[in-house]
Amino acid sequence: MTSTPTTDHSTSGATPGAAARHKDVVREAARRRTFAVISHPDAGKSTLTEALALHAQVITEAGAVHGKAGRRSTVSDWMEMEKERGISITSAALQFSYDGHVVNLVDTPGHSDFSEDTYRVLSAVDAAVMLVDAAKGLEPQTLKLFRVCKARGIPVITVINKWDRPGLDALTLMEEIQEKIKLVPTPLTWPVGIAGDFRGVLDRRSGDYIAYTRTAGGATRAPEARMGGDAAAAQVGDVWHAAVEESELLSSDGADHDQDLFLSGFTTPVLFASAISNFGVSAVLETLVELAPPAVPFRHGPEDSEGRPLEVRDVTAPFSAFVFKVQAGMDTNHRDRVAFARVCSGVFERGMIATHAQTGRPFATKYAQAIFGRERAVIDTAYPGDIIGLVNAMALKIGDTIYVDEPVSFPPIATFAPEHFAVATAKDSGRFKQFRRGIDQLDGEGVVQVLRSDLRGQQSPVLAAVGPMQFEVAQARMESEFGAPVRLEPLSYTQARRTDAASAPELARVRGVEVMERNDGTLLALLPDKWRVTVIERDHPELTLEPLIAGDR
Ligand code: G4P
Repeated sequence: MTSTPTTDHSTSGATPGAAARHKDVVREAARRRTFAVISHPDAGKSTLTEALALHAQVITEAGAVHGKAGRRSTVSDWMEMEKERGISITSAALQFSYDGHVVNLVDTPGHSDFSEDTYRVLSAVDAAVMLVDAAKGLEPQTLKLFRVCKARGIPVITVINKWDRPGLDALTLMEEIQEKIKLVPTPLTWPVGIAGDFRGVLDRRSGDYIAYTRTAGGATRAPEARMGGDAAAAQVGDVWHAAVEESELLSSDGADHDQDLFLSGFTTPVLFASAISNFGVSAVLETLVELAPPAVPFRHGPEDSEGRPLEVRDVTAPFSAFVFKVQAGMDTNHRDRVAFARVCSGVFERGMIATHAQTGRPFATKYAQAIFGRERAVIDTAYPGDIIGLVNAMALKIGDTIYVDEPVSFPPIATFAPEHFAVATAKDSGRFKQFRRGIDQLDGEGVVQVLRSDLRGQQSPVLAAVGPMQFEVAQARMESEFGAPVRLEPLSYTQARRTDAASAPELARVRGVEVMERNDGTLLALLPDKWRVTVIERDHPELTLEPLIAGDR
C-alpha cells in the first residue's frame, strides 16, 4: 500500500482563533453535499432540479428556478441561440439547506453537444445522481457520463424517473443497470404499482409503505403518508404484496445497500420517482444527506502507477479552489466573464488575496458571487464543497488553482475525445489580431478545443468539439464579442486519440491521419473513423494511441 503524504493541520499549538477556524471548517465540510445530475436529455433533469429546490423550500412553486423554453424563467438567456432552441448552455450551482446540511447542486447543460461542460462539472462534485427515464432505460448520454463518474470514482445514486407513465418493468431496469454499467443496483425504495400506476414506494430498509398523493400539476410538495405493511396491504392490496415479493427477491440476490460498497463505486442505491408529480423527491434529498459523501479532500501532485495523484489537500488546509468552468457573457447587460471554482480546502472569505497557481500572481477575490440562473448573490464566506463564481476573473482558465499560504496546483481536468473538427480562418484577414485573441479566449473557456500544427500554421487552427453546436457558439461569439467573424471548414475526422512525440512522425505518415497539438501540450492523432484506429492498433502496436478518458473507446 502506498502511504499518502498529508500536511498536519491539527490544531495542537495553534492560537485559539486558528483552533476555532479549524473546527469550523471540519463542521462545515461535513455538512456539505455537492452533487450533479447526469442524464440523457429529456429524462427530467430540469424538472427534478425544480422539484428538489421546491422540497428544500428554495422556491414555493415549481418552475421558478430553472426551466426550458416556455417555463417561467430560464437558466440564462445570454445568447439568442439558447432562447431559440430552448436549451441551457450555461451552468452554475444552486445551494440550499436541507435537514441541517448544505446541498450544492451543480447544474449541467441539458444538450448532449455540451457534454464536455458536464464532464468538467463532474470534476467539481463529490457525488452524482443518475437520472433514468423509466420508459427508456439507460441511454447513450447517461452511459457516457456514467463512465466519467466511474473514472473519477464518484459514487452514483440512481433515480428512476417518470414512474407515473407506462415504462419498463422495475426488475428489468435493475438488470439493465447491472449489465450495462456493471454496478450492482441496491434499491432503497421499490415501486408500489407498475410504471404508469404509481401509488407509492416500499421503503426497503424499514419495510414501510410511503403512499403518494397527487397535487394539481405537481406544483406543490406532494403529501406523503407513511404506514406499516398491514395498513399498506389493507389500502392497496395486491400491488403491495407484489412489491414486497420483488423486494425479497432483490434481498436474496444481495441487492441491499452497503455504504462502503456504494462509496467505493461497486453499488448504486436506487430510488423510484416522478419528478413532475413530486413523488419520491424528498427521498432523493434524504438519500443525499444520509449517504452521499461530505466534501472530500482533493488530490494533487505526482501520480502513482495508476495515474492517481499521491498527495491530498486536506479540507482543513488553508484555502484552495480550482476552476472547473469559465463562462463569458452570462449577463448581457454587463459583458462579464465568470470563473466558477470549487472550494477544495479552508475557508473562502470575500476580499482575500489568493495566489493564482499557474502564474504565481496575486488574485483578488473582491467580486465573488453565488450564481444560479439569473439569480446572483454576493458570497462572503464559502467552505469546502461550495461553488464560488469569480466575476471578471480574466486571468483564470479552466483547471487553474487558487490558494492561500500553502501552494497547491490541482491536476488539469481530463477532456472528452472530440468527434467534430473544423479549420477556422478569419473572414477578414485584416482582423487577425482579434481573431487570435478570440480563439485563445474560447480555448481558455473550453468552448471548443483548439488544435495547432506547424503544417497548418497560426492562421488556421483546427477547432475540435464533442458536439457540433459548440461550433455555432464559437462562431457566434467570435463575431459578436471579438468582431472577428470566422469561416469554418469541416474536416472529415471523427476520432481523436492521445499520442506522444515518439509515435507522432510515424502516425503522421499514415494516410488520412493528422497529428496536432492542444494548448495543454497533448498531442492528438486525428483519424477518420474507428476502423482506422483498429487497423493502426493492429499493424503498429508499438505506436501510442490512447483514448482520452480511460475506458472510452
Ligand atoms: P431534461 O432537463 O432532462 O432535458 O428534461 P426536462 O426536465 O425538461 O423534462 C423533459 C420532459 O419530460 C418534459 O416534458 C417534462 O415535463 C417531462 N417530465 C419530467 N419528469 C417527468 C415525470 O416524472 N413524469 C412525466 N410524465 N414527465 C416528466 P415536455 O413535454 O418536453 O416539456 P414541458 O412542456 O412539460 O415542460
